[in-house]
Amino acid sequence: MEYKTILNNTNNNIDKRPIAFFDSGVGGLTVYRKVKNLLPYENCLYFGDTKNMPYGEKTEKQLVEFADKIFRFFEKQNAKAVIMACNTTSAITYEKLKDNYNFKIFPIIQSVCPILAKLENINKLGIIATPATINSHIYSREISKYNQKIKVFELAAPKWVRIVEEHRINQPQSLSQIQEIIEIMQNFNPDKIVLACTHYPYLLEVLKKFVPEERFIDPALYFAENIKKFLIENKMLNDKFEYEKFYVSSNPENFKTASKLFYELKELPELINLD
Ligand code: DGL
Repeated sequence: MEYKTILNNTNNNIDKRPIAFFDSGVGGLTVYRKVKNLLPYENCLYFGDTKNMPYGEKTEKQLVEFADKIFRFFEKQNAKAVIMACNTTSAITYEKLKDNYNFKIFPIIQSVCPILAKLENINKLGIIATPATINSHIYSREISKYNQKIKVFELAAPKWVRIVEEHRINQPQSLSQIQEIIEIMQNFNPDKIVLACTHYPYLLEVLKKFVPEERFIDPALYFAENIKKFLIENKMLNDKFEYEKFYVSSNPENFKTASKLFYELKELPELINLD
């Protein structure tokens, strides 16, 4: 349905509070862009915890601390919803923290697995993610709740996040680090491969040298649709875009450069310390 028509049908219950996103760095912008496309009138905040990147190598205790600080920050900013645009924190912290704040929290994995599990013509599904996400086995667990026939193969790609954050995507060493993982995945012969870390869609130009692009799934689209549906059903839409604001915990210049492939920031993100 046309967006304006949806707005007119929501009894003018306009909610101007921002939607807030977070990730360890630029990865969450792959989700941010899709949500912005579907919900163009929303005010948005984005926090990239670049000081603590990569999340995939952190312990549960550390990840819970990081996520809690970010949620408290967004509470002060009066966010109406927080998007965990990060698979790792969705896997490790969502269950622990989900009831502690005064806004709706959207975890990427738990939101998209019901959809992934019902996609047609998939018998074998490959999952590539950070070590923390893979070690939690959350993808196989969540998918088997909705479809027990699909065989899921989970594989960690420990080096990929840094390749993106350090903008080394086209370097020969990065190419071989990407190829190494893809070859292991190909031995499983998956029908589709889920890019289960929000940083990985940045690597698509390289990934498609080894596997046809249509075999990869970026769950961000399903995630964005799920968020839009919730905001419509709960009459939480805004009717006019006024601002977007980006924050990082270190190195704003690097964030602006690394993010270019997915989102062109008009100015440097603001450096803030949540400790
Ligand atoms: N982009 C995040 C994810 O989806 C975190 C990556 C990292 O910092 O290791 O898991």
